[in-house]
Amino acid sequence: MTNEADGERSVPRWTRSHAKRIERSDASVAPVVYPPDEEMDPDLHVWDTWFLRERDGTIAEIDGYRVVFSLTAPADLLPGTRHDVATIRYFYSRDGRNWQCGGPVFADDAPFGSRQWAGSALYDDGTVYVYYTAAGTRGEDELSYTQRIAVGAGGTVETGSDELTIAGPFDHEILLEPDGTIYERESQACGMIYTFRDPWFFEDPATGETCLLFEANTPIPDPEEDDRFEGDPSHLEFNGSVGVAVSPSGDPTEWELDEPLLEGVGTNQELERPHVVVDDGRYYLFFSSHDHTFAPGLEGVDALYGFVADSLRGEYVPVNESGLVVTNPASAPFQTYSWVVYPHREELLVSSFFNYYDLRGLSLDDVAELPPAEQQRRFGGTLAPTVRLDVSGTDTRVRDVLEHGHLPLPREELPPLLSADRGSDDDGDGDERVLSSRKGEY
Ligand code: FRU
Repeated sequence: MTNEADGERSVPRWTRSHAKRIERSDASVAPVVYPPDEEMDPDLHVWDTWFLRERDGTIAEIDGYRVVFSLTAPADLLPGTRHDVATIRYFYSRDGRNWQCGGPVFADDAPFGSRQWAGSALYDDGTVYVYYTAAGTRGEDELSYTQRIAVGAGGTVETGSDELTIAGPFDHEILLEPDGTIYERESQACGMIYTFRDPWFFEDPATGETCLLFEANTPIPDPEEDDRFEGDPSHLEFNGSVGVAVSPSGDPTEWELDEPLLEGVGTNQELERPHVVVDDGRYYLFFSSHDHTFAPGLEGVDALYGFVADSLRGEYVPVNESGLVVTNPASAPFQTYSWVVYPHREELLVSSFFNYYDLRGLSLDDVAELPPAEQQRRFGGTLAPTVRLDVSGTDTRVRDVLEHGHLPLPREELPPLLSADRGSDDDGDGDERVLSSRKGEY
């Protein structure tokens, strides 16, 4: 976006007036999710997940296998504590339905962070690069929330008739830390948990530019003069942004910080796991966010949000006017989270994980007060049904869902739609269609 007066790009915004338009509708609500017959791995909690992809974003296929990486923790831990011990494991599959766990990707060691948070993975010339968030500090006695963007580079892939192995050694390096000027440092943060995480490799098909997107916060040097807060100091701690770094040489381990692609100052604190899908020359910038990270006065929901522009640094406008793309039904508002979108022929597929369900009106804070067995019972901890999404310009519409954890490649046919027409829905929360095709209700 260019400010015509001085030729400088001003960062596009997710404004409070966009967010005030957030409302569940038939176009955005995914069906109620029920526990799957089989989990991805019953010994693990599995949440944020991403494909091993090539430089141009194509999903890597290695001797017939596709690979995903997930944040994982032992399944006997209370689900709420999983972020404190998160470890990246890889899974592989020939059919995109049945997944085999290959173990922790950094089996030798990961020298940075006390745990690993989300990232992305690149397969380039036979080498695996796993980008991740080094959360906390290695060896710390008390858990800290420092976040640095790191890479483990140099992995190799071997395949056998029924297995795939990712082997090290990985060369670990801290790639990016916030600079305090365009990206807030932890010491500048003034409220909710700050963010500098979730690196996402992206090569721009139009320009060839090599980029790393990430979730961040924008520093607010002069709150008194800043009209993005609409004069209300309670909005001040909500300053989420989508950051970007570039690699001028294309080297996947050399990055320079650049201005954010989008910011949600005064609107929302966490624009999580940002990523871009280019469709028909349009750049769709997606991220996940929570209901509790919207600034006071806004009624958001846990959802996948999206913006669209005609170039990577274009004038992003919110999809569906508010930015809301896919959300959970009102009756199961926390059933899925951490969405990732990828193209499949004429449509988009949206993967996420099965989060808390059967809450019957409880908030996530209430869940933490439940007896441990009840917290476990109500947590999915495996991949959710993949959502099929229609996209047309600035509009999107949920079409249908595939099975839990079914991640088809673009060359693979999708099963027939459950219902060609989703029909009308009384209250817009998406339940009606689902309940007609499923038994039981949460
Ligand atoms: C989203 C998220 C990510 C982070 C991870 C930590 O689900 O908050 O931003 O990397 O969870 O578990």
